[in-house]
Amino acid sequence: MRAIITGSTNGIGTAIADRLAREGMDVTLVGRSDARLAETAAQIRASAPGATIDTARADLADLGEVRDLTARLAAGSPADVVISNAALIAPLDERTALGVPRTVAVNYLAPYVLLRGLAEALRDRRVRFVVVGADPVALARVPIDPDDLAFSDPERLGDDPELRPFALYAHTKNMDAMLVYALARRLSATAITVNGAHPGIIGQTGLSDETPGLRRAVHARYAIEEATLPAPDVGADTPAWLASDPGLDGVTGSYFVDRQVVETAEHTTDLGRCDRLWDHTARLLGMPTDLELDSLASGR
Ligand SMILES: NC(=O)c1ccc[n+]([C@@H]2O[C@H](COP(=O)([O-])OP(=O)(O)OC[C@H]3O[C@@H](n4cnc5c(N)ncnc54)[C@H](OP(=O)(O)O)[C@@H]3O)[C@@H](O)[C@H]2O)c1
Repeated sequence: MRAIITGSTNGIGTAIADRLAREGMDVTLVGRSDARLAETAAQIRASAPGATIDTARADLADLGEVRDLTARLAAGSPADVVISNAALIAPLDERTALGVPRTVAVNYLAPYVLLRGLAEALRDRRVRFVVVGADPVALARVPIDPDDLAFSDPERLGDDPELRPFALYAHTKNMDAMLVYALARRLSATAITVNGAHPGIIGQTGLSDETPGLRRAVHARYAIEEATLPAPDVGADTPAWLASDPGLDGVTGSYFVDRQVVETAEHTTDLGRCDRLWDHTARLLGMPTDLELDSLASGR
């Protein structure tokens, strides 16, 4: 069994990779820094002696690099598990060449391109895709506009400028949930499953490190005490379980918290809204709206 895990050079992603390696999977770590990839690979090899660990570097803010990564992974030995975990909260004024905030590019556009591409490459195989999302209760408060990925009006992100990068992050996590539903539906005739997972509110991670002051502002706003938060291995539990538990064969299009299926807000599950977001994203990226699934697998 082979698992590909994005954002596995820190926090929850490292903990997922470590756990799957200790369970006996070959693991491909995906990160943006060669040095951090080498360091994490060494750490996991020490924790899971005998595990086969390889690495793939790509900055997921750069869609050219995401496309190249997708091609490299598709050409390598086929994956049984793909976990889209990488995310960040970038300063609001940081935009990519496409004109979207960097937070949108890394957290949503990159998984859209990567999972679409790998789905097409792996369409005849039994594969589990897991998308690491966020707290469905919190996300219910921030419905996205499926026709606007540019977020040119900061007012859309609330009254408090200090918290707007966090609000944007929450929007991208809603897009990730909608990607789970849209992709699962499009892959329903294949043996590829797609599920979402909220890891819990977890400490000792670097999610907001690129936006100075944000962690303090969010913790103050939501009365969070960093010292009381569980460690990344706790956050890894539900995503890793979704990747490997034999009882989950064929389960798709669901969202999990603490290994339980939960409903996410109606604005994330509505088929019309999910399709609008899917199509708008495809047009923005210059991709066809339909997946290339000509030679479909015989079923799940
Ligand atoms: N922590 C929480 O409380 C919490 C709550 C809900 C959901 N989550 C979700 O859990 C997942 C993991 O977050 P975390 O808290 O473990 O954060 P983290 O410690 O910051 O880990 C994020 C990972 O993503 C990588 N990454 C960031 N930007 C990238 C880019 N441009 N290209 C390639 N890789 C990039 C990071 O690489 P570097 O090592 O180079 O920085 C790191 O490996 C995220 O999807 C997050 O939304 C976390």
